[in-house]
Amino acid sequence: MTASMDEIVALCKRRGFIFPASEIYQGINGFWDYGPLGIELKNNLRDAWWNGMVRTSPLGPDGEPLQIVGLDTSIIQNPRAWEASGHVGGFSDPMVDCRKTKARYRYDHLHVLRAREASASGNPNQLMFAFTEGEPDAAKKKIKKLAKGANEDDFEAVPLKDIPVSELARVVGPDVNEPGTLTEPRQFNLMFKTYVGAIQSEDSVAYLRPETAQGIFLNFKNVVDTQRVKVPFGIAQIGKAFRNEVTPRNYIFRSREFEQMEMEWFCHPDTAVLWHEFWCKERTKFWQDLGLSSANLNLRAHDRDELAHYAKEGVGTFDIEYRFPFSAPGFGELEGVAHRVDYDLRQHQEFSGVKLSYFDAEKNERYLPHVIEPAAGLSRGVLALICEAYTPDPARPSQVYMKFHPRVAPVKAGVFPLVQKEGMPEVAEKLFRDLRKKHVVQYDPKQAIGKRYARMDEAGTPFCITIDGDTLKDQTVTIRDRDTLTQDRVAIDKVAAFLDEKLNV
Ligand code: GAP
Repeated sequence: MTASMDEIVALCKRRGFIFPASEIYQGINGFWDYGPLGIELKNNLRDAWWNGMVRTSPLGPDGEPLQIVGLDTSIIQNPRAWEASGHVGGFSDPMVDCRKTKARYRYDHLHVLRAREASASGNPNQLMFAFTEGEPDAAKKKIKKLAKGANEDDFEAVPLKDIPVSELARVVGPDVNEPGTLTEPRQFNLMFKTYVGAIQSEDSVAYLRPETAQGIFLNFKNVVDTQRVKVPFGIAQIGKAFRNEVTPRNYIFRSREFEQMEMEWFCHPDTAVLWHEFWCKERTKFWQDLGLSSANLNLRAHDRDELAHYAKEGVGTFDIEYRFPFSAPGFGELEGVAHRVDYDLRQHQEFSGVKLSYFDAEKNERYLPHVIEPAAGLSRGVLALICEAYTPDPARPSQVYMKFHPRVAPVKAGVFPLVQKEGMPEVAEKLFRDLRKKHVVQYDPKQAIGKRYARMDEAGTPFCITIDGDTLKDQTVTIRDRDTLTQDRVAIDKVAAFLDEKLNV
């Protein structure tokens, strides 16, 4: 992958994949809108997840389809639910403020350039230069300006959290030229607060959900009581989540409003380790099947100090990571597969006073199931698909094409009359009307054929179907393949079947 994020963002704007939210009002940090191509791409990813998870759930280790049912729960729940889940008390990031610029930074995202000899000698006058992860250039320039006579090679990058708080007075913040403007780190709760009802008081405070998972735990008993499910089984949900991220960044990677695709897999505590392994493999395969190359995917175990409050006692969390252009050569999290033990059911049972244990009639055993949770970002998944698809090709008029897997491509085929005469538009339009009953296709009669191909290439459309002079004689059309650029002649009445086969429906 050679593309930069700037190029990818520019294409997404130009072609209508993603726009900044409220753009005509200079935007709003951390919020994004999906354009006509973006929403088709997002819906395709969402459907692939839902179909593969719920409608045709994966086969388990015994070759039988797993039991997974769906839910769609409210974004606002009783605030007690968020106390029980640990989000009111613990869902926070440490942050530091700059007293001068009022900018706020995630403490764990800041690094400093520190003189190598200063770390050894502890020179109390030596300045350190802070920068946000991956952006050291401005800090390097400050070395020349502020640490007279010093050379950038004499400095090493270390995480700010490794610098004693008592030494923050020597740190020059990322956006200033003087030391001592950064505050000590403080915890900042990430949940958006709102009020329910007409009176805005502490009693009416509610939260926008920061994860879809809790709605599933709150309905565990409803599902057990109303569906014929037996442990092990799963409950899946796709929906919006909201986090007041301290530093939203990297385009839609870390935003304040985003979508998640989460499944809680309830199993017997003795089997949790095996199921955790199963879901790590299954979920990695899901992303590979949608076109993310294995070389750009990585499965990484969380370090002990990274584990969320609910994962401490279990087998931990694995992240399925993707090599985004901004993280390359490293990786960024795409999906977490966590062992949440029985943390959530136990907490909700205690806070609500409602029994949430499961009774296994065959074994005459009552227990709180353990939970394995594959939690994927739908918005982050869209970004990974876009980054993977972006393919520069100087040989094409468009210079770049989006090599989406046909299953997720926003538009499946373009239908063109070669010229706007000799009956070609009529035939093309009829074909378009037939195909659009089943697939997203676009009819484009205007401009030179090369320009029409270029437009489709940038949108990532896998097939272009052209009606030409021969069509009228022998009832065949050409189908151009986006990736190979080959053109095959296919009988016009076989085009629908051709698309069905290629799109794997
Ligand atoms: N229920 C567990 C949970 O929410 P998480 O790792 O915090 O775990 C799961 O979130 C996934 O949601 C992440 O792997 C990521 O893909 C996505 N996600 C989390 N925060 C996000 C943000 N601020 N913007 C976009 N996607 C985010």
